[in-house]
Amino acid sequence: MELGNYALITGASAGTGKQIAVECAKRGFNLYLVSLPDSGLEQLAEELQRNYPVDIKFLSIDLTQSESPKKVFDYAVKNRIAVNILVNNAGLGFDGKLEDLSLFLIDTMILLNIRASTLLTFLFLSEMKKQKTAYILNISSFGALVPLPFKSVYAATKTYLLFLTSALRRELKGTNIHLTSVHPCGITSERAIENVRKSAFFARAAALTPSEVAKISMDNLFAENPFVVPGLMPKIYYYLGSCIPHGIVIKLVERIFQKTT
Ligand SMILES: NC(=O)c1ccc[n+]([C@@H]2O[C@H](COP(=O)([O-])OP(=O)(O)OC[C@H]3O[C@@H](n4cnc5c(N)ncnc54)[C@H](OP(=O)(O)O)[C@@H]3O)[C@@H](O)[C@H]2O)c1
Repeated sequence: MELGNYALITGASAGTGKQIAVECAKRGFNLYLVSLPDSGLEQLAEELQRNYPVDIKFLSIDLTQSESPKKVFDYAVKNRIAVNILVNNAGLGFDGKLEDLSLFLIDTMILLNIRASTLLTFLFLSEMKKQKTAYILNISSFGALVPLPFKSVYAATKTYLLFLTSALRRELKGTNIHLTSVHPCGITSERAIENVRKSAFFARAAALTPSEVAKISMDNLFAENPFVVPGLMPKIYYYLGSCIPHGIVIKLVERIFQKTT
């Protein structure tokens, strides 16, 4: 691989991923955008190209398909894209009791949130080690920090991402690679805004816009902060959650999510 300074962003067509693409372009990084087919990636690339003097490559692909992470890597090799920022942002969450979800929905969350993020990290790691400095940003969730009844699978996939990030940080200590996990409470992306509106006051009060989350994430990534809870209210909840007994915290979040599902 030869062309450097690329930020590979998954789920770049909408919400937080799109705003992370804007943040990276503002900071002069070339972009390698990945998202679902027919998600408007081409138009986004054209729009960004008009506003920022960076090179933009994109690949429309469904990351839940078994060969997709390898295809994302192969496209980078073929197009000589040297990635030094990997942003595992694409993620989906479906609400409800486990028994009320479908096999397809459960599989989709695991394949996208866990499998795709892990395999992309694995595939790009050795190339990223060749860069002067490289960064991995994993967009997890506040839900990673406590078991979430009625959002159990989603929250568990995000806990996986938190633990993966923390463990890899130790494995990669002393190398050029810095890892950050981000734990937003609620994000008012187009897809999630209705859910945020319907949620309990405490969840609504903690929600941030995709551009706020994107900026906070990138600032903290470059500051090499390992663990980020964006926003004041979520930070307060996180602090309170660490003071209150675990069993009580789970009962509180159970009440919040039981109302919204
Ligand atoms: N929204 C929240 O309240 C919230 C809270 C905490 C954490 N998070 C996490 O933050 C991240 C971003 O959330 P968001 O609400 O900003 O996202 P979003 O608006 O729902 O956008 C998700 C992006 O991922 C893409 N995507 C979905 N399935 C895909 C697949 N199978 N293969 C490739 N790309 C796929 C989507 O493409 P299309 O546009 O074509 O669907 C879209 O670009 C996610 O990891 C989410 O779990 C969100």
